[in-house]
Amino acid sequence: MGSHFIKYILEKYPDYFVVNFDKLTYAGNQDNLRELENDSRYKFVKGDICDIHALENAVKENSVDVIINYAAETHVDRSIMDPDVFLRTDVLGTFNLLEVTKKLGLKKMVQISTDEVYGSIEEGSFTEDSPFAPNSPYAASKAGGDHLCRSYWVTYQTPVVVTHSCNFYGANQYPEKLLPLFITNLLEGKKVPVYGDGKNVREWIYTGDHCAAIDAVLHKAEPGEVYNIGSGDEISNIEITKIILSEMGLGEEMIEWVKDRPGHDRRYSIDHSKITKDLGWKPVKNFKDGLKETIVWYRDNEWWWKKIKNGEYLDYYNKQYKER
Ligand code: DAU
Repeated sequence: MGSHFIKYILEKYPDYFVVNFDKLTYAGNQDNLRELENDSRYKFVKGDICDIHALENAVKENSVDVIINYAAETHVDRSIMDPDVFLRTDVLGTFNLLEVTKKLGLKKMVQISTDEVYGSIEEGSFTEDSPFAPNSPYAASKAGGDHLCRSYWVTYQTPVVVTHSCNFYGANQYPEKLLPLFITNLLEGKKVPVYGDGKNVREWIYTGDHCAAIDAVLHKAEPGEVYNIGSGDEISNIEITKIILSEMGLGEEMIEWVKDRPGHDRRYSIDHSKITKDLGWKPVKNFKDGLKETIVWYRDNEWWWKKIKNGEYLDYYNKQYKER
């Protein structure tokens, strides 16, 4: 998501300067921003948000005035196998960003977080006032970071805004997530692993819509605010799988039912009326159109995902099923 936002913001605001402070963990990929390598408005700094000195230097040396925190460990299945790194990056890393924002008097910090902090909901939708009830180590780590944001605003008036987003989809997504995993498996002639009964429901937002929402939050939100960023496009995993299969001209024999994810949240649903009312943002992409475009992107960019699937990804994938 970070790379999408950098491209979006530099196109919309040509006189902005963006510093991409990135540890380049397994999911970081410099291929995503190759086109900006020689652009004087863009600078890449390899660094870890857990290293507060490196972070502070990068901010000072580049006269950074706002921070948008896209740096996170994000994958629920990985957090179940190896929670430690989630706590470090998503809690301590967020703490360091808040410290730097406070100490250097930055104008704003935007925390990119998740709807998973609210937990699972059978009916209705979570609002920004819903209590946190995280169910995975990933969600709990993000909740910890978000609570720190709240406390820094209340205690020190550090100008931070927290956003809770539903599931992203689009180009350049690491193929461990449902959509890119299923599309690329099918392009490789492999089956798609549906967890449990496939009836878990997720809400899906297109990358471009999410970038526009963060733009609105960055430029218009008051410090201390919290915004849900959703689309209203709710769909179960099995329904989405059937749409992908049909778009790709394949049948249900390509489905492999696998053991459920431990602690698997049944349904996520967020009410995004507050951001529409306060900041004038609303999602525009139709889900089926976005999904078709996403399939086409993976079909046309095999070089991008084959490199990943033949590398680190394989170890993770094999380990995941062995440990369940
Ligand atoms: O809701 C926002 C969150 O969405 C983000 O905060 C997370 O960073 C992001 O990873 C995503 O979490 P999910 O667990 O919802 O995404 P994932 O793509 O892993 O799974 C989506 C659904 O599909 C979920 O119900 C589990 C199911 N699934 C996933 C995979 C990878 C399968 O059935 N089979 C699979 O192989």
